[in-house]
Amino acid sequence: MDVVLILDFGAQYSRLIARRVREQNVYCEVLPHSVSAETIRKKAPVGVILSGGPNSVYAPDAPSVDPALFALGVPVLGICYGCQLIAKTLGGEVVPDGGAREYGRTETRFDRADALFAGIPETSVTWMSHGDMIRRLPEGFLPTATTAVCPTAAISCREKRIYGVQFHPEVNHTQYGRDMLRAFLFDVCGAKGDWTVGDIRTEAVRRIREQVGDGTALLALSGGVDSSVAAALTAEAIGDRLTCVFIDHGLMRKNEGDEVEAAFRPWPIRFIRVDASERFLSRLAGVTDPETKRRIIGEEFIRTFEEEAKRIGGADFLVQGTIYPDVIESGLGSSAVIKSHHNVGALPKDIGFSGIVEPLRMLFKDEVRSLGRDLGLPDAFVDRQPFPGPGLAIRIIGEITREKLAILREADAIFREELRLSSEDKALSQYFAVLTSMRSVGVMGDGRTYDWTLALRAVKTDDFMTADWARIPYDVLDRVSARIVNEVRGVNRIVYDITSKPPSTIEWE
Ligand code: XMP
Repeated sequence: MDVVLILDFGAQYSRLIARRVREQNVYCEVLPHSVSAETIRKKAPVGVILSGGPNSVYAPDAPSVDPALFALGVPVLGICYGCQLIAKTLGGEVVPDGGAREYGRTETRFDRADALFAGIPETSVTWMSHGDMIRRLPEGFLPTATTAVCPTAAISCREKRIYGVQFHPEVNHTQYGRDMLRAFLFDVCGAKGDWTVGDIRTEAVRRIREQVGDGTALLALSGGVDSSVAAALTAEAIGDRLTCVFIDHGLMRKNEGDEVEAAFRPWPIRFIRVDASERFLSRLAGVTDPETKRRIIGEEFIRTFEEEAKRIGGADFLVQGTIYPDVIESGLGSSAVIKSHHNVGALPKDIGFSGIVEPLRMLFKDEVRSLGRDLGLPDAFVDRQPFPGPGLAIRIIGEITREKLAILREADAIFREELRLSSEDKALSQYFAVLTSMRSVGVMGDGRTYDWTLALRAVKTDDFMTADWARIPYDVLDRVSARIVNEVRGVNRIVYDITSKPPSTIEWE
């Protein structure tokens, strides 16, 4: 299998590049920039990509790369920071703020004799984001693209197969970015592009069998896409030596528990459904602070899981649905904690497992989804929108009660159903109802009401780090509103959330 390595100089960039490479059916891995040339050589990649990054190559602690990389004879493509780093490391000159700051869409002229640009028009738009500029090229390099202010918008040394682009071919705003990456992967690196979901499945099953041997494994199934696909994959690998524990914390959406159980019935695994709602709800009684709710749910989750694990006599391995973005984010980058996300992933290490199995560790979300489909999980299940670990607890503002949960469940189900019937759901990333802590006066029939205000939230986003509120047609919102106030007792007012993230977050708590 061909492997391309992406050296990371800023996690946001490397993630997107990795997506683009895998879209071409070429397997790639992201490694920290500090990795040695020897490690790279051992992985025998067909090519190496140096990502962009937020630094200037002149910053005091600017991240660098092992210079021996350039002597391995492996094709290299540097993007933005990566391009400047190539120039600086190989003896060229990069000047800070060289009078050629460029941000955003930039008309760029390409040398079509260059391998990267052979198949694209002579001029097109690229996406730039740089202050520094390459003033002098290293020996053996030629400029291969220019803009009005930057004579070195791309550079290359054909003999050594080293390429650099000042702009970002991985973003959609670069008109022919995908073609350039394709040219690098196939024409320069000679990749075959034969990596498929089928390969992922076969390889993952083989690895699980190798790791678990004739042992047993335990998985905390949340019903979310990641843990479900991890369960299906492990089930295929070791069958009934896998036990899935599905903890129903009483904070699920309407019918969700039954749906999860039904989806897993076809597999010959041990499926344990624990109704822990009483336990969770009694500990949450009277709690209004969002972070306290999250902490309690996280703790109870672990306790319940531990008890179940003990009850079935433990297991040799713990299976987790960690996916690649989690790995990249926690291992390579750093970001501020806005909310302490409770994930089933954060399970105790002290139950005495002899190892952890993470079969999705190298996969992106959409790869996980196609794998799930390939394994036979229902589409409706695999295409699920994200649902937070703490469930409806963080969609009820203030105190959580069984009555409020019942109201929210019904209202949320109506909202989701109407979006599905109008096909508006296809364009949305996440959509749900929130039960606010506000009551207001209304009139129904001839009587006064004093009931809850319910909020509807729907967003579009690529990465859930930023999001835009969705412009759902008024007539759809109107139908949802009319149905909820008519069908759900206790709600007399509906509002629609029209804030983006930032400044808001997607969830209300
Ligand atoms: P926010 O509200 O931070 O949410 O904009 C971003 C995405 O994360 C989900 N989310 C969570 N997921 N455990 C999870 O597994 C959590 O505690 C949690 N909190 C928020 C949220 O639904 C959205 O998709």
